[in-house]
Amino acid sequence: MARVAIVTGGTRGIGEGICLKLQEMGLTVVANFGGNEQKAQAFTAATNIPAYKWDVGDHQACLEGCARVEAEIGPIDVLVNNAGITRDGTLHKMSFDDWSEVIRINLGGCFNMAKATFPGMRERGWGRIINIGSVNGQAGQYGQVNYAAAKSGIHGFTKALAQEGAKFGVTVNAIAPGYVDTDMVAAVPQPVLEKIIANIPVGRLGEASDIARGVAFLASEDANFITGSTMSINGGQHMY
Ligand code: CAA
Repeated sequence: MARVAIVTGGTRGIGEGICLKLQEMGLTVVANFGGNEQKAQAFTAATNIPAYKWDVGDHQACLEGCARVEAEIGPIDVLVNNAGITRDGTLHKMSFDDWSEVIRINLGGCFNMAKATFPGMRERGWGRIINIGSVNGQAGQYGQVNYAAAKSGIHGFTKALAQEGAKFGVTVNAIAPGYVDTDMVAAVPQPVLEKIIANIPVGRLGEASDIARGVAFLASEDANFITGSTMSINGGQHMY
């Protein structure tokens, strides 16, 4: 039987690219989405990948949502924590709500989804958790104390859970994408974005498929000795 993968925020942007790549690899793929019903329906119609709606920042909703997926589709073997939002603004203009929503969804979502799926992977002796961080969690970014903190937290979360999963055959890795051609990046003011692109050595934004190929590798058997690592896919924007 094909392994089951769930991709949060899987119906748009980078998540959509990841779903398509994992499907191409032969996995049974399920997408979670938070809000855009119309896009989710179009996604399912085009890909045949079921889309389940819940807020990854809601702990109980993740437990119930994953239980439903497991009952209807099968045990979840691969979790891709991709869902994320931005609420950009400099600290002096950022509200507490802008801060806490980004932490709740981007970082809290990883905890909630891992709580729902890691115990089963551990029991079955095989699993893959791939968390989508960001270049801005590695390098910081003007106007993103909330997002950079959440994404940086994802990198720490990854290393800690990797240590817990290792002896049970569960690998936990992160990908740190750079600026990728999605709605999220399109929301960056044009003059600011032009300056950012000018500092990307390969001279372009990434494509969702650039990130998806990294996820596919980390989800495969070929990556079974890789855990607790971060793969940077950013066109050379940040190297260390
Ligand atoms: N470094 C230093 N100064 C900067 C700066 C930077 N990177 N960016 C802006 N500034 C300065 C501006 O030059 C300006 O200074 P002056 O007033 O002296 O001219 C001042 O900050 C205010 O800039 P704005 O006019 O842009 O201010 P604003 O309040 O309208 O907007 C902002 C501020 C919301 C941070 C806006 O600049 C912005 O959206 N920046 C982009 C943030 C970004 O990169 N977000 C990434 C989203 S995509 C993503 O997150 C995906 C991923 O993982 C990569």
